[in-house]
Amino acid sequence: MFQLSLSLAALVACTAVVARPDVSFSSLNGRGGVDFTQLARNLSPSAHIYLPGSDGFNSLVGRWSNLSTPVANVVVVPATENDVVQTVKFANSKCLPFLTTNGVHGSITTLGKMTNGIEISLKQLNSIKIAKDGQTVTIGGGVMSKNVTDTLWAAGKQTVTGTCECVSYLGPALGGGHGWLQGHHGLVSDQFVSLRVVKADGSIMTVDKNSSVFWAMKGAGHNFGIVTSVVSKIYDIQHRNYALETIIFSGDKVEAVYELANQMWLTNGTIPTDLNNWSYWFFDPTLDTKPVIAMYLIQEGVDAVDPAYTQPFHNLGPIVVQPASGTYLDLAKWTGISLSDTPCQITGNANPRFPIYLKSYNTTAQRQVYDLFTQATTNASTPFSNALFMFEGYSTQGVKAISDGATAYAYRSDNLLVAPLLTYKPNGKALDDQAFKLGNQIRQVLYEGSGQTSLNTYVNYAYGDETPKAWYGADQWRQDRLRSLKKNYDPKGSFSFYAPIA
Ligand SMILES: Cc1cc2nc3c(=O)[nH]c(=O)nc-3n(C[C@H](O)[C@H](O)[C@H](O)COP(=O)(O)OP(=O)(O)OC[C@H]3O[C@@H](n4cnc5c(N)ncnc54)[C@H](O)[C@@H]3O)c2cc1C
Ligand SMILES: *[C@@H]1O[C@H](CO)[C@@H](O)[C@H](O)[C@H]1NC(C)=O
Ligand SMILES: *[C@@H]1O[C@H](CO)[C@@H](O)[C@H](O)[C@H]1NC(C)=O
Ligand SMILES: *[C@@H]1O[C@H](CO)[C@@H](O)[C@H](O)[C@H]1NC(C)=O
Ligand SMILES: *[C@@H]1O[C@H](CO)[C@@H](O)[C@H](O)[C@H]1NC(C)=O
Ligand SMILES: *[C@@H]1O[C@H](CO)[C@@H](O)[C@H](O)[C@H]1NC(C)=O
Ligand SMILES: *[C@@H]1O[C@H](CO)[C@@H](O)[C@H](O)[C@H]1NC(C)=O
Ligand SMILES: *[C@@H]1O[C@H](CO)[C@@H](O)[C@H](O)[C@H]1NC(C)=O
Repeated sequence: MFQLSLSLAALVACTAVVARPDVSFSSLNGRGGVDFTQLARNLSPSAHIYLPGSDGFNSLVGRWSNLSTPVANVVVVPATENDVVQTVKFANSKCLPFLTTNGVHGSITTLGKMTNGIEISLKQLNSIKIAKDGQTVTIGGGVMSKNVTDTLWAAGKQTVTGTCECVSYLGPALGGGHGWLQGHHGLVSDQFVSLRVVKADGSIMTVDKNSSVFWAMKGAGHNFGIVTSVVSKIYDIQHRNYALETIIFSGDKVEAVYELANQMWLTNGTIPTDLNNWSYWFFDPTLDTKPVIAMYLIQEGVDAVDPAYTQPFHNLGPIVVQPASGTYLDLAKWTGISLSDTPCQITGNANPRFPIYLKSYNTTAQRQVYDLFTQATTNASTPFSNALFMFEGYSTQGVKAISDGATAYAYRSDNLLVAPLLTYKPNGKALDDQAFKLGNQIRQVLYEGSGQTSLNTYVNYAYGDETPKAWYGADQWRQDRLRSLKKNYDPKGSFSFYAPIA
């Protein structure tokens, strides 16, 4: 209640200012009469300010998911940390909302609550510096995952990053951050040593293990500030070579495949750290009349996946078995998320996901959602024929080695990240509603089959209709701790467009 009245007061104060806007005849006079020449004077020479209609503006506001997207009157591209500070101070002085944009793959529908204001694109904060002692790297706030991986690789180093080449390093990390090397070292955010953060009032702080908000930056970081750079741990490369085996099954094998996936883990006691297993379901009429199950077994340090992992799957009678070998740098291509693949293009499609974390597969539920998915992807004139059902089984030992309460990321005890991705071409509200209904119907079946008592979701995949408990953990202490930090660091809710804590 207290918080509500506080932000309401801020809103009233701001409305008064907007009602008496600056009048300017300069070319930097954006919609709403705000004079951006004032801001321009305070920015460094390489910074940019793009107004609607310009090519710069159009190319920067495009997003991976064209559903409930944020709307801005101007895009600022800072070139220095101080440019970010100046932009936030300017926005505050004009009562304009602002939003950090980076790899533009954030898809949560809460972003649509931004209906005007400044987008702050971090793409020019793109430096990467490896420390002399080879233990850490300083990564600019706008660096893409691939740039981190490639730069470290050239120096014989590596660290945990998200897997998609066109997603930023920090976007995934602020919500936890899953990646291929998490079985060894934990999540992307578990590598943080310190961060430079611009706060809601435009002041700058260094956040490290001595700061109360460090805990929150690792899982709920979007809510607390703009990260201009981060120092993260790095490691010597342990395995250069990797092997993949893609094993494709027809849908009648759903129970057998997932029964086996469960068993291989349970009978051996621990999940192997050298193996990541993903599966995708998709409809490809050249393969089958119904969606297929594509199992990807990815093993490090070998040129062919160990038959101990693959043979039991071969015994189930797949329709395709395709081995590949290469290096760590091939993994994005192998899983269809490299720079040249569709997920890295801005297509104009809506891309909602409906994620749930699971402990293991329930084969009854897998069958039920397979049937729903078949109906949705294969019937005549369906808008969802390009939907993709993702089952991500990253190795987890490094994640579980860190105690459950150590960070705001709440789901270390879960094992699988599962989500239907209902790609479709937008065509009005009725279709949006249809996708929403179908996605939640599928998720509900998985939830009921899981026997869990709370809906656990990955905030970075979330649709946007979930609650803060689903994004940040249902434990009351987590909610209390996050709300109290939010009140201290962002009392007016300036950083509340992306999965707001409260
Ligand atoms: C194809 C694809 C592959 C993916 N792969 C992975 C994966 O391997 N692992 C994984 O964990 N997730 C993955 N994700 C999910 C990913 O974590 C989110 O989509 C994430 O929001 C993308 O960040 P972005 O910078 O690209 O997007 P943006 O939309 O630019 O950013 C998302 C939000 O993050 C915040 N933000 C970004 N940068 C900063 C910053 N420097 N300071 C403060 N706030 C910031 C802002 O609130 C912003 O609204 C994937 C998503 C897609 C679409
Ligand atoms: C990433 O690397 C590419 C190729 O070297 C470069 O053009 C680009 O500016 C870099 N971008 C970021 C944001 O790191
Ligand atoms: C944290 O505080 C301790 C004790 O005050 C100090 O010795 C240490 O240098 C600080 N750590 C960092 C990373 O600033
Ligand atoms: C089971 O564990 C043994 C010993 O660690 C290992 O050699 C084998 O590959 C594992 N098998 C599977 C299927 O995980
Ligand atoms: C996003 O979808 C709308 C329809 O809802 C469409 O008009 C617009 O062109 C799409 N955007 C892009 C970038 O394709
Ligand atoms: C076709 O798919 C849509 C979308 O999932 C669904 O609403 C409809 O019931 C399906 N029709 C049939 C005949 O299966
Ligand atoms: C795949 O990984 C998940 C999560 O780590 C695990 O539950 C499952 O048993 C694994 N399956 C195989 C075949 O390794
Ligand atoms: C699997 O899911 C079904 C359907 O929801 C449920 O009845 C059953 O109890 C679940 N099995 C387990 C082991 O949880």
